[in-house]
Amino acid sequence: MLLIPAYSQQGLVTDHAMVVSAHPEASAVGRQILEQGGNAVDAAIATQFALAVVFPVAGNIGGGGFMVVRLQNGETATLDFREKAPSAATRNMYLDSTGQVDRNAITATQLASGVPGSVAGMWEAHQRYGSLPWAMLLQPAVDLAAKGFPVTEAQAGMLNRAGEDFRERNTRNTYLRRYGDWHAGDTLKQTDLAATLKRIQLEGRDGFYKGETARLIVEEMQAGNGIISYDDLANYDAVWRHPLQFRYHEYTIISMPPPSSGGVALAQLLGMLEPFDLTALGHNTPDYIHLVAHAEQLVYADRAKWLGDPDFYPVPQNRLTDTAYLHARMEGFDHTHATPSSDIAAGVPAGYESEQTTHFSIVDAQGNAVSLTTTLNDGYGSKVFVTGAGFLLNNEMDDFSAKPGEPNLYGLIGGEANAIEGNKRMLSSMTPSIVLQGDNLFMVTGTPGGSRIITSTMQSILNVTAFGMTMQESVSAPRFHHQWLPDEIQYEREGLSTAIQASLRRLGYTLAPKAPFCRVDAILVIPDGRLEGGADPRGDDTADGW
Ligand code: GLY
Repeated sequence: MLLIPAYSQQGLVTDHAMVVSAHPEASAVGRQILEQGGNAVDAAIATQFALAVVFPVAGNIGGGGFMVVRLQNGETATLDFREKAPSAATRNMYLDSTGQVDRNAITATQLASGVPGSVAGMWEAHQRYGSLPWAMLLQPAVDLAAKGFPVTEAQAGMLNRAGEDFRERNTRNTYLRRYGDWHAGDTLKQTDLAATLKRIQLEGRDGFYKGETARLIVEEMQAGNGIISYDDLANYDAVWRHPLQFRYHEYTIISMPPPSSGGVALAQLLGMLEPFDLTALGHNTPDYIHLVAHAEQLVYADRAKWLGDPDFYPVPQNRLTDTAYLHARMEGFDHTHATPSSDIAAGVPAGYESEQTTHFSIVDAQGNAVSLTTTLNDGYGSKVFVTGAGFLLNNEMDDFSAKPGEPNLYGLIGGEANAIEGNKRMLSSMTPSIVLQGDNLFMVTGTPGGSRIITSTMQSILNVTAFGMTMQESVSAPRFHHQWLPDEIQYEREGLSTAIQASLRRLGYTLAPKAPFCRVDAILVIPDGRLEGGADPRGDDTADGW
């Protein structure tokens, strides 16, 4: 596992176009679409459907996500295809008779699933920006599902670890619910999924939200404790949101507004850090980690209180990202000591992916860019298949605050802003982002990683802008993360020297070593105008282009 960057390391460099995604087959599909004259959005749609086949741990048609687009002519757009709570969902639906959150129901059953948004999202993106025929963008995914593809060693390991859950949570046989171990090179063929993709190919969004696929989803709900109805499916809508755009030094960052917390939190973090000379502090030195961790504590405290679905809760987005507010929040920073999280609360602004989400970045030959993050929430979502339709359901309902102050899968807490309500979208941390330098495209970035998405996306930007790393070095570099509660700095095991760990402990921090986290897939426009891909070495992530 590469964690210490080699400082001369550069990723794939191409002259024209680039796709960086979590799986080599998906990156190859995106590249082919670009070569056939498709634009970045066409390639994103084809890559998203390909990932649903070749990267079932997070790629999906049963989940949701966010897309950030920046066209070469300067137009920007952000598309919200986050799952929605079924209309029959209620605030206390996951509390048992003793008032505790039923963790099994909210993560491992049909009831865990929000109404999927991915197919509507891709359809909507195609309506607005697609240039190649829809059917053509679906064809590679249909072929991969029907003919099968060889699983990688990492995938075989993930499938084996999830095997028991697949067998317990699904009654009928599916390709993932099998006995015996997977090995690298085994062929994963998904004929039910191929048929579902074919329906989507022929009928567009109706091939998923109506007809046979809808019937299979509702049947799956009825076979368990699920509540997604025909109406919930037919009424699902992907929404164009006003892009969240902010300045950081000479850069402009375009990111995802609520119901993702990602863009607001990224704007808050970079706004709090802007007055400090990060370059002088040095990459991952104790002083740098101390400063950044303190800002992270403040931002995650705000996240827990203020952020939720803006269609249901008046998120004070502008006030939370106001420069004066952010500088005032940092006033309590003590250079010599950590501030315990118990001494930090959400501010009062004048006037809030498990690893298993997936992100990809695309730049086409015209300079159009797409940054897209998509998820089933946990690895393989709820691990419940829609029997007969061949795809996995998300367990995104766990991203709601099922009970105020009660941590979810990622240890994140929340309150009123993110309480469950029918048709509401659960708060996300996904942070697909595009960075401009002046008026020019500079970077496309993002990552999976649950609560750590925001801080890892931020580090992917700072590693380049403050520390002069190449895209590949930035993506490979060791990461750290603080989310206010639990009150600890998480860091990648072997990513911080024992001397740095000792310094941080002396400052008063509790340290929590973790397995390598997040998989940043990013693209940098290098000074000569070519593209450098940063594919995360922590996974099978691959850059492809020409
Ligand atoms: N399910 C992880 C997220 O949306 O933040």
